[in-house]
Amino acid sequence: MVKSFQSDATITCNQQIQGDYYRMLLQAPDIAAAAKPGQFIHVQIPEMEHRILRRPFSISDADPANSTLTIVYKVVGTGTAQLKKMPPGTQVNILGPRGKGFSELPTDRRSILVGGGYGCAAIYLLARKAPIPPLILLGGRSHKDIIMVDEFKALGCEVRLSTDDGSTGEKGRVTLLLEKALTEFPAGRIAACGPVPMLKAVAALCDSQQLDCEVSMDSVMCCGMGACFACVIKRKASNQQGWTYVRACQEGPVFKSTEVFWD
Ligand code: FES
Repeated sequence: MVKSFQSDATITCNQQIQGDYYRMLLQAPDIAAAAKPGQFIHVQIPEMEHRILRRPFSISDADPANSTLTIVYKVVGTGTAQLKKMPPGTQVNILGPRGKGFSELPTDRRSILVGGGYGCAAIYLLARKAPIPPLILLGGRSHKDIIMVDEFKALGCEVRLSTDDGSTGEKGRVTLLLEKALTEFPAGRIAACGPVPMLKAVAALCDSQQLDCEVSMDSVMCCGMGACFACVIKRKASNQQGWTYVRACQEGPVFKSTEVFWD
């Protein structure tokens, strides 16, 4: 059982990265100390209190020494539009860390981390804690969706890019980069976060080569506590016949690629 904390966290920074992408730093000592790569926090956005629901955000970084949590978000609706207006000093109620994160990366071989759009936020802490700097593959629709490149490079990671329109990096899907990288060296593990179709393609590629792969499933969440079942995904039944529903907020959001029943 994951130990979680509820905290009135103070925003210390809330800055635009580029376009619709923002980075927020929060003072939350207990959550920063407990956070693991791939976990998330559930944020109550004050202007939305009447709606009760919280919004989930992947923990992009956690610095227990400074009691700081980092999230990276894209403005996609009313909740995130409110979030971007919050100045430093504002308090927000957050719950976390929640969910099952990524496993520790192997110590003997370089791993490959794949991020689609703001999915790169969920793999940053994993890259920072990696025993060997992993190869980072970032994909997006266009150059506007490629973020955090310099942050990954500052960790000593090699970073390769792809965009659907070819405006930066290779033209095409990020799975093309993965396909090529898998011919270059034996990866310790592949870990991915991004849109479900991207995860499905990553899983198909890795499963066909029997590679160790984990995916962070993007799912609609309401309670974030395992109570409402809004976040369910299909997991293969243990006898490999059919599937059962599991809660992404509780049993995930990170799953082995071979566990997921891909429709
Ligand atoms: Fe309610 Fe997962 S969000 S059970």
